Amino acid sequence: MILDQLTIIQQTAEFVRSKLEGEGTGHDWWHIERVRTMALRLGGNERADLYVVELAALLHDIADWKFNDGDEGAGGRDARRWLESLYVEPEAIVHVCEIINAVSFKGAGVKTTMRTEEGMVVQDADRLDAIGAIGIARAFAYGGFKGQEIYNPEVQPQPHASFEEYKKGSGSTINHFHEKLLLLKERMNTATGHAIAEERHRYMVEYLQRFSKEWIGEA
Ligand code: ADP
Ligand code: NI
Repeated sequence: MILDQLTIIQQTAEFVRSKLEGEGTGHDWWHIERVRTMALRLGGNERADLYVVELAALLHDIADWKFNDGDEGAGGRDARRWLESLYVEPEAIVHVCEIINAVSFKGAGVKTTMRTEEGMVVQDADRLDAIGAIGIARAFAYGGFKGQEIYNPEVQPQPHASFEEYKKGSGSTINHFHEKLLLLKERMNTATGHAIAEERHRYMVEYLQRFSKEWIGEA
């Protein structure tokens, strides 16, 4: 059975939606939908293969290591199983799984490079959803899920040098801004992604300044 690309995309979207619908930590279906839209926008500017971009965007959080006992390969494996069940071309499967396995942030001191244009736009789209107004909302949603404090002035942010260190967590959600969110602007792959990140970054900095002032009763 050979399915056309549109059908494969539609079935994949339904599959992901049924898995992630109603998820409460910021890795829900609407995160996927936003990453999909942004990745297609960035990919359109970069002459990327939009079929691979859309499949990778849809499947990128299908089995995140954070919800699979730290297993980094789970996402790629689940995506492969799904795409094979639809008889997707092997080259596309390899490419999509490579992107899924490489997309995540792994700590301030850990380099995560993308090999292809398609991977770069999916990574930028995913990272853009971690910053700005939506990024702030997602960070506090995830922090609540982990049971971590909003902020604790006695716990300093850590410049995680390894993925193992990063996995252990931040201490507080405000620390997560310093350990990850404020670093993303400089790690964007595409020019459009970088421009959008600048604006979202500014908004987060303003938010943190306001947070600090309220914390000490100054505003
Ligand atoms: P990535 O897309 O790089 O894999 P994650 O899945 O780690 O990103 O992060 C998804 C969302 O959860 C992001 O918005 C991120 O800021 C948030 N998040 C991850 N770890 C923490 C943490 N320790 N505290 C607060 N938010 C977090
Ligand atoms: Ni994501």
